Amino acid sequence: VTPQLNARGDVAVLVPAAGAGLRLGPGGPKALRLLAGEPLLVHAIRRVAASPSVRTIVVAAPAAEVEAVRDLLATVAPVTVVAGGAERQESVALALAAVPADVPIVLVHDAARALTPPELIESVAAAVRAGHPAVIPVLPVVDTIKEVGPGGDGSETVLGTVDRAVLRSVQTPQGFRHDVLAAAHASASDPLTDDAGLVEKAGLPVTCVPGSDLALKITRPLDLVLAEALLHLR
Ligand code: CTP
Ligand code: MG
Repeated sequence: VTPQLNARGDVAVLVPAAGAGLRLGPGGPKALRLLAGEPLLVHAIRRVAASPSVRTIVVAAPAAEVEAVRDLLATVAPVTVVAGGAERQESVALALAAVPADVPIVLVHDAARALTPPELIESVAAAVRAGHPAVIPVLPVVDTIKEVGPGGDGSETVLGTVDRAVLRSVQTPQGFRHDVLAAAHASASDPLTDDAGLVEKAGLPVTCVPGSDLALKITRPLDLVLAEALLHLR
């Protein structure tokens, strides 16, 4: 029995899942790698589908895996699956093209943030609904951050220390008014690693809401170990 999405919801969620997962090491596209026996994408989509505001989900899958991803998600949630692109930004643009025009709020959410709780998805959507054109979940930075440049002998040398108090780590889902995200992508030139960056370039305000430790991006092998531990804590 496939759970249905809320036909009266006002949110479309785009899920870029077309990356190779190079930093995770050998083993195929990251979204299809297993966490506690299930693909990361299944964990992610289950949580997106459990968010009551969500009406539509569009997944950008690796081009060679579109059919496999459709089959994989058939029993998880009703989703549209499109082929992604070479860069994340291209994958998001391709997914955005499949969103019905009458959905007012669009969230972009990495498949790699597989354990993101529905509560965070709801809080980002709520902030957009409340009138913010662009919303991102953020956490304080724990490490000291330094700017570096090339040193004399192939090493790096420190150019300066950034004030950590004004820095934030940025997660997904990032939420947007549909027209704002569409305009940002239409005018995009250089690929960026997040969608809010496009809105910043357009000169619009981007609003921060508190992020979640559970929304960590599974990037390196150690992140899989941490995610598995977090899964069993709950
Ligand atoms: N992504 C995508 N299309 C791309 C590249 C990335 O849809 N061409 C997606 C990934 O599948 C992931 C999210 O964007 O869900 C964040 O990207 P990242 O964590 O960098 O994943 P990968 O690009 O797969 O990993 P790596 O950079 O280590 O290869
Ligand atoms: Mg990447």
